[in-house]
Amino acid sequence: MMRDMPDGTRILLTREEIAARVQALGGEIERDYAGREPVLISVLKGGTVFLADLFRAIDLHTRVDFMSISRYEERPESTGVVRILKDLDHDIADRDVIVVEDIIDTGLTLSYLMGALRQRGPATLEVCTLLDKAVRRIVPLDIRYLGFDCPDVFAVGYGLDASERFRNLPYIVAVERSAVETAGDLLLPLLSP
Ligand code: PRP
Repeated sequence: MMRDMPDGTRILLTREEIAARVQALGGEIERDYAGREPVLISVLKGGTVFLADLFRAIDLHTRVDFMSISRYEERPESTGVVRILKDLDHDIADRDVIVVEDIIDTGLTLSYLMGALRQRGPATLEVCTLLDKAVRRIVPLDIRYLGFDCPDVFAVGYGLDASERFRNLPYIVAVERSAVETAGDLLLPLLSP
C-alpha cells in the first residue's frame, strides 16, 4: 500500500516503474546471452532483491552465486579495498559472469571487486546495476546494463537500507541528503501498521 510520503522524502521509483525496467533488462540479457548460461553474482545484501526479480525475467539457464564483503573505510584516500567475508561457492573460470548490484555510488566497491573477479579468468565479466549515482563516481566503471540514473539523494527501499531497515519497501524512496541521519525515523510511517 502506498502511503502519504513523510516530509523530506519522495517516491523516486514506483514498484511499477521498477518492475517494467527489470523486465526490460532481463529481456536484454536474455538476447545477449542466448545459448549461454550466465552466472549472476550478487553482492550481499542490497542487490538480492533486484537479483531475485531480474533472475526470473531471464528465460535462459542461469546460475546465481553470492559474495559478502566488508565495506571499505570512508576516507578520501580510500582505495576501495574490501575484505571478502563470504566468497563465491563456485569457480567462475571460463564462465559468463554478470555482477548484479543495487546501486553504484563512488564505484570503489565494484571497481575493486571487478579486479578480483577478473583474476579468476571468467570468459566475460559485465555489470548490471539497478541504480547509478554517477554524480558521486570516483573511479570510472563500464556499466553494461543500467536500470536508472540516480540523483544525489539517499535512496531507500527495494533492497537499499537505512541502517539495515526498510530494504523490504517495494518501491524506492529518496531522502534528501540533509536528512540522512534521521532517515530511519522519517521513513518509519511507511512501515507502521
Ligand atoms: C552498497 C551497494 C554497493 C556499494 C556501492 O552496499 O550495494 O555494494 O554500496 O557503493 P560505492 O560505489 O560507493 O562503493 P552497502 O555497503 O550499502 O551494503 P549493503 O548492500 O549490505 O546495503
